[in-house]
Amino acid sequence: MLKIAHRGAKAYEPENTLQAFQKALDLNSDGIELDVHLSADGHIIVIHDETIDRTTNGKGEVNTFTLAELKSFLIDGKYQIPTLNEIFDLVDKKCLINIELKGLGTAPKVVALIEEYIAVKNWKYEDFIISSFDWNMLEETSKLNPKIPIGILTEEDIETALAFAEKIKAKAIHPDFQLLNAENVSEMQKKGFLVLPWTVNSEEDIQKVKSYKVNGIISDNPDKI
Ligand code: G3P
Ligand code: CA
Repeated sequence: MLKIAHRGAKAYEPENTLQAFQKALDLNSDGIELDVHLSADGHIIVIHDETIDRTTNGKGEVNTFTLAELKSFLIDGKYQIPTLNEIFDLVDKKCLINIELKGLGTAPKVVALIEEYIAVKNWKYEDFIISSFDWNMLEETSKLNPKIPIGILTEEDIETALAFAEKIKAKAIHPDFQLLNAENVSEMQKKGFLVLPWTVNSEEDIQKVKSYKVNGIISDNPDKI
């Protein structure tokens, strides 16, 4: 049962910050989940929304700012928006990194960064899993490098996700936990896929999905899993 910290340990520190990912490591998480967009100058930026409005003291779309400009905005008055490289260096192979592709154009950049860390820093493909609700970007990822593990995100329909997972030879299916029951979890696993639901936070919901024997849980409070 993998304990995966959603946007870092989001229940305890501001989401998608170095501090949230450090907290996830401190809680002995088996993995972290994060979201990525591109800056105007092509850096991979770890942030959930298309804009910086909700999480920082700035306003505007992430992909209209350079990295230097993005670094000038603050989260909770003190933290900076991190890059994906910074998170890789913080984690330093201590746990699985689930990278959710949000922004257009992120797939080739993320694939190149993963390949660099594998070639130069001795990381392994198993240290990563790329997911997205945008299945075109998952197909693009799989074509760029079929060795990179892929998780199919779905909030709608397990059967369609299962068919797509088979088509692109994914490693996992990441469903909204409310879509799950013991039968469909077993069906996905029998076809060879890990089942990693999100975002499961209450003790009651955690117990429920555990009873379905999922392979892991993505949670804001991974310590409760
Ligand atoms: O990866 C699962 C979950 O993070 C998807 O939803 O909106 O939190 O990115 P969201
Ligand atoms: Ca996410």
